[in-house]
Amino acid sequence: MKWTSLNDLREQYLSFFEKKGHLRLNSFSLVPDNDKSLLLINSGMAPMKKYFTGEVIPPRNRVTTCQKCIRTPDLERVGYTARHGTYFEMLGNFSFGDYFKNEAIPWAWEFLTEELEIPKELLWPSVYEEDDEAYAIWRDVIGVPEERIVKLGKEDNFWEHGTGPCGPCSEIYFDRGEKYGCGSKDCKPGCDCDRYMEIWNNVFSQFNNMGDGTYTELEHKNIDTGMGLERLACVIQGVDNMFEVDTVRKILDKVCEISGKKYGTDKNVDISIRAITDHARASTFMISDGIIPSNEGRGYVLRRLIRRASRHGKLIGISRPFLQELILTVIEENKAGYPELYDKKELIKKVISNEEASFSKTIDQGLNILSELMKNGGTLSGEDAFKLYDTYGFPIDLTKDILSEKGMDVDEDGFNELMKIQREKARSSRKASDGES
Ligand code: SER
Repeated sequence: MKWTSLNDLREQYLSFFEKKGHLRLNSFSLVPDNDKSLLLINSGMAPMKKYFTGEVIPPRNRVTTCQKCIRTPDLERVGYTARHGTYFEMLGNFSFGDYFKNEAIPWAWEFLTEELEIPKELLWPSVYEEDDEAYAIWRDVIGVPEERIVKLGKEDNFWEHGTGPCGPCSEIYFDRGEKYGCGSKDCKPGCDCDRYMEIWNNVFSQFNNMGDGTYTELEHKNIDTGMGLERLACVIQGVDNMFEVDTVRKILDKVCEISGKKYGTDKNVDISIRAITDHARASTFMISDGIIPSNEGRGYVLRRLIRRASRHGKLIGISRPFLQELILTVIEENKAGYPELYDKKELIKKVISNEEASFSKTIDQGLNILSELMKNGGTLSGEDAFKLYDTYGFPIDLTKDILSEKGMDVDEDGFNELMKIQREKARSSRKASDGES
């Protein structure tokens, strides 16, 4: 395996699949186009659902992309572990009714073992337990010994994300070695420990999840593959987690430079450094795709990210606005794959610094109030959390974050109830001003 930068890996993958007859497309926007089931694009296939269902004719029936993705279910964990992040890139090769398992599996293997020269014995495929066809390809065509092909159930090897195209899948795991393992003699892909890292998912997309618990057969069989670029870079660069990958590490180092802190010396400081690094990446790409901080939907996700980053900056002693400086490094590290970031630099700087400034006006007051309230211990009331949100601009997850550092929690139901009332009031006053009854 040869050390390769994240930017070169992206290029290597896309040009490999171009040579296999795929059309290379730019990443789609993070903002879904006409898809109400998603707030933000969260996988390579998400912007292409209509090509899979046949509703829209794709520009070619073989396409390859590197897609910007955001996943937020673990937003509050980001920083606390080195495994969680919100922003990542997903490499994918897609077939819309063209090739199927017989090509997708051997190409995945060829890319990993010949192009990237990953030693074959470190790769473990998994297949859906009822998929004898994929199993046979791995065993008979590729020649993987049976003991290294793992059969897993629906939970692990049937891919679906909300409504739309889905199907059984075959994943490829990389063995990171015993030092990451749990020591159990049954440890293999599917185990909860860190030894086997899933790097590639080949979905044999043949069903449509209708969203009401039913599935229909798609008109044609498709391939939807997804490989996390940062994860692949971890393997190729021999590093532990995505924060150590070359381009991400440069951003992390910039956070250290701005704060004057050293990474890896203090557990709590590391949490903040990682959270800021991830959130600066996510915010930069969200703004470049036209998202503006607000109190709803995508805009609220962006607001949470910027405010969380800003607060973690304070925690590690950064007393001045710093995000607009940091995003210059994000742009620099990503401009090879996303040259548009460079053109939108001024806009991104402006949006991020406005949000940081408006938060910094109230953050100190809000923090003082919260620390007073925390002296009582226990659970923070919904009313107090709502006041922090409404008057001091504290997104609820920020309040939760601060409380959880002290082992406390918040009455979220009470908070949500007050949010609902506020939304209803806003709606009725809008209606009144529009003259509606
Ligand atoms: N859709 C699958 C995933 O996100 C493969 O691209 O893992």
